[in-house]
Order: sequence, then structure tokens, then C-alpha cells
Amino acid sequence: MPDTFTPTLDHLATAVMLLDEQAHIAYLNPAAENLFALSGKSLIGCPVQQAFTHTGQLDAAMRQALDNNACFTEYDLALGSHAHGRLHLRCTATPLQADKRYLLLEFHPMDRSLKLAREEQMLDQTQANRLLLRNLAHEIKNPLGGIRGAAQLLEQELEKPALHEYTQVVIKEADRLRALMEKLLVPQQAPHFSALNIHEVLERVRSLLRAEIPDELVIRRDYDTSLPPLLGDQEQLIQVMLNIVRNAAQAMGGHGTIILRTRIARRVTLMKKMHRLAVMVQVIDNGPGIPEHLQDKIFYPLVSGRPDGHGLGLTLAQDYVSQHRGSIEFDSEPGRTCFTVMLPLL
Ligand SMILES: Nc1ncnc2c1ncn2[C@@H]1O[C@H](COP(=O)(O)OP(=O)(O)OP(=O)(O)O)[C@@H](O)[C@H]1O
Ligand SMILES: [Mg+2]
Repeated sequence: MPDTFTPTLDHLATAVMLLDEQAHIAYLNPAAENLFALSGKSLIGCPVQQAFTHTGQLDAAMRQALDNNACFTEYDLALGSHAHGRLHLRCTATPLQADKRYLLLEFHPMDRSLKLAREEQMLDQTQANRLLLRNLAHEIKNPLGGIRGAAQLLEQELEKPALHEYTQVVIKEADRLRALMEKLLVPQQAPHFSALNIHEVLERVRSLLRAEIPDELVIRRDYDTSLPPLLGDQEQLIQVMLNIVRNAAQAMGGHGTIILRTRIARRVTLMKKMHRLAVMVQVIDNGPGIPEHLQDKIFYPLVSGRPDGHGLGLTLAQDYVSQHRGSIEFDSEPGRTCFTVMLPLL
């Protein structure tokens, strides 16, 4: 136990943790227990990678500090806590020498304005990417018609039927590309808002999905039936929820449980505006989780972890949710993935 440091650290308002040479937790102060909702005693001796999830950035910061034997700060560190999901923190790692070598970690919850600026920048970037893709899809779609038509004409002129195999490849591939381009070019219609009940949306999604998936997949409902109606585009919201729930069902390969949860949320900031009330919809599954290397990118178009996926489901969901001035986020680890959609009420 690094008694040399702890009496002072106990009183700090900053969340602090000490790791030993094996990156096992040697100490954490009350502020850290509070920040991560962890009990210090039960964690002493536990590897830091077990106490948290998504530790990739933390590992990198620790390595930097140890390799250079100097203090290192990561200003935008995402770290998964078992109690609170993903937290955004500023983290400083400092190597210390006492009876053994220790690493001191200080955590500061990320500045709210910085977090908002980061979200805004990400949204701008994704919107720019989408525009680029739409334009590109448009450019590709037009000549495809010509290529397909020319292959058909050629086929009629070919005397050897064996050669049709080649023109058929051109025609089939042109059709496949055209279908993909059409998915990229979904019409950007303005939403038609009307008062709607979010549970009706979820029930539609449940019945649509029931027809697609095997019986071993359980869809449980955990609705707050006292939710007031919200103003939204029913068809768009069905599409949003369907894409999220379908992904969960696909990730679980037809076995597992999906929970559809609704709650009221108070005082939330969505698209830079504070709302007194919002509707929170969560889709929670107990599948394998989103692969870590995809987690920063799943809202980008054409990013997919499935061999037959187009990587467009979540892109479209994010587009529709932002047209409702809402937000869509997720938290994922093996065994539990939770997508949260927030839609403003007041
Ligand atoms: N609940 C989930 N569990 C595990 N992985 C998920 C989950 N939801 C999304 N993913 C991952 O995110 C990727 C992107 O999802 P998205 O819906 O955008 O595209 P897709 O499902 O691959 O293709 P499309 O929806 O266009 O047919 C998925 O391929 C999958 O790897
Ligand atoms: Mg999908």
C-alpha cells in the first residue's frame, strides 16, 4: 500500500488513482470512487483494465508516461465505467517512485462546453461526408445506366452464347451498384411532424421485426406509459428504431434478448439547446457488442461490421434523429449494447 501518498490524496477534490507496476489498482481516493461509482476496497489489486471498459486510450496514455518517465495528459479520453457507461475525461498520468514504481492517474470530467464543441464538430464532419457521398453516388449512378444498356446491346450481337456469361456479369454488377447508389440517395424530404405516441412507433417496429426474426429472440418492453405525446414524423421514427433494433437482432444471430425502454428525461441539452423535458428511448441487447475498432465510426456511411451490410442503417437513423433536433448515442461492451435516442418534448 503506497502509504507515502495516500493521506494527502484522500482529501483531494480531484479523482486520483495509483497503479502499481503491473497496472493493478493500488489506491483510489474518495473523489475517484465518487466519479466512477466504484468501491475502493473491492478494487484494490484489480487490474485497471478489469475495473473499466474501453481502456484503449487510457493504456496509450499510461504507456506514454512510463516510456518517457514524464507526466502525460490526454485531454479527451473516453473511458467506460461499469456504472455510468462511457465517460469523457481529461486524464494526467504521472510516474512516481516510492518503495516501488507507481503511476498516478488524475481524472477530470471533461468540460461541458468542450464536449459540446466536439459533438458539434463530429456532426459537421459527418454531414460533410454525407454530402460528398451523395454527390459521388449521383455521379456514379448516371453512367451505370449507360454501361448496363451497352452490355445488353452487346449481348444481342454476340453469336457465341458462352460469351453471354461475361455480359451478364456486367449487367448484374451494374444492378448491384445501382441498388447501393439508390440507398445512398434516399430522398432528403422534410419531415412531416404530428403529435405521436412513441409506444405506437415501438409497437410497429416490434411487429415488423417479429416477422423477420426467429422465436428464440425475445423482445421485452419496459415502457413508461405516462409519457406525453411528442411532435415527430412517425415514418422516420419507425425507420430509426427499426434500424437500431434490426442491428441488435442481427448482431445476436437470432438468440438473445432485446429490451425496448422508454423514460422521461429532464433538463437535457440537445443540439445546443436546453430542453426541460425529452423522451428517452433505449434499445438494449445482450449480444456480442460493437467491435471496438468500429465504435468511433458506426454512424459514418458505408461502415459495416457485417459481410452483407451496407453500413447505411445508422447513418440514416442519425440523419432522421437530427431532423427531430434529438440525439443518438450508444454504449457497448461484450454482453451489453445500449443505444439511446433522445427526442425533445419541451
Ligand atoms: N447492437 C449492435 N451490436 C453489435 N454491433 C452493432 C450493433 N448495432 C450496430 N452494430 C455494428 O454497426 C455496424 C453499422 O450498422 P449500420 O446499421 O449502420 O449498417 P449495417 O447494419 O452494417 O448495414 P445496413 O443497416 O445498411 O444494412 C453494423 O454492421 C454492426 O457491425
Ligand atoms: Mg443496419
